[in-house]
Amino acid sequence: MVEKPDISEFGSVDPAPPSEGLSVENHRSTLCDENERMFQRMRALFALRNIGGKTAVDSLAEAFSSTSALLKHEVAYVLGQMQDDFAVPHLINRLEDLQEDVMVRHEAAEALGAIGNRMAMSTLEKFAEDGEVVVAESCEVAIDLLNWVSSDRLDYSD
Ligand SMILES: [Fe+2]
Repeated sequence: MVEKPDISEFGSVDPAPPSEGLSVENHRSTLCDENERMFQRMRALFALRNIGGKTAVDSLAEAFSSTSALLKHEVAYVLGQMQDDFAVPHLINRLEDLQEDVMVRHEAAEALGAIGNRMAMSTLEKFAEDGEVVVAESCEVAIDLLNWVSSDRLDYSD
């Protein structure tokens, strides 16, 4: 009998269960292997997210050089979930790259909002007028989130 997917500690149901019992290096090489099945690469991605820390963030960001927009979009998503400031420069890079897939740029903007570091503000403002509406709207949401995070949250306590 197939078990129901677990809800991760991040409150989401992952599209692939994280692989277990392997090192960060193992996960990194599976994630970045362009010949590996996408399901296995996603399992490595969620395992790295769950492990966390600088090396995991760098391993995830390495997959931004993949050819798969789907995978890169998922990398940006989990970097947002991890809320690690160390990921901010990687996400800014993706958002700024006009050759990058729109789905990836949009998710990078949302992740920058989720992390909540004001270091990303000028980049988000720059692309709030992006020609791609999905990117522009994601930047707008992220800017509001950054402003909300830095404001007195008690004013928004509903
Ligand atoms: Fe998305």
